Amino acid sequence: MPIERTLAIIKPDAVAAGNAGHIIALLEREGFEIVAMKKVTLTEAQARAFYAVHRARPFYDSLVRFMTSGPVIPVVLEREDAISALRKVMGATNPANAEPGTVRKLYATDIEKNAIHGSDAPGTAAVEKPFFFSSLELG
Ligand code: CDP
Ligand code: MG
Repeated sequence: MPIERTLAIIKPDAVAAGNAGHIIALLEREGFEIVAMKKVTLTEAQARAFYAVHRARPFYDSLVRFMTSGPVIPVVLEREDAISALRKVMGATNPANAEPGTVRKLYATDIEKNAIHGSDAPGTAAVEKPFFFSSLELG
């Protein structure tokens, strides 16, 4: 399995609830190394751009409101097979369907306020890492 880098975002619900540290600790226990991390509040235009793939979906406007409702913590993570490993440890989009021990089972509120984002494929990771981090920050 190749060493990969992926993008996670600790979402506003988890940051506001004081769960960011718990989620980062869980990810480190799962073998992810923190390459870069910051705390930012997205503008509406930035949230719309980040989630542009979902612009035709009925949940898009609400998702943009949620993602701009408070600070988020984007993190670039590195480990073997990082992209699919992160998706696995995140758990299902709807926490009601998430496996025990996953971030979303432990920390999500509902299908929208679900604590964490993770890139879903190498192509999206390649676009999402530089959305938040410069080449200087990523080494
Ligand atoms: O985040 P993930 O890749 O698991 O799910 P997605 O299908 O790419 O959707 C992106 C985000 O939109 C989710 O993480 C939820 O925050 C939100 N969403 C929602 O509010 N209602 C849905 N029915 C589906 C997704
Ligand atoms: Mg997705």
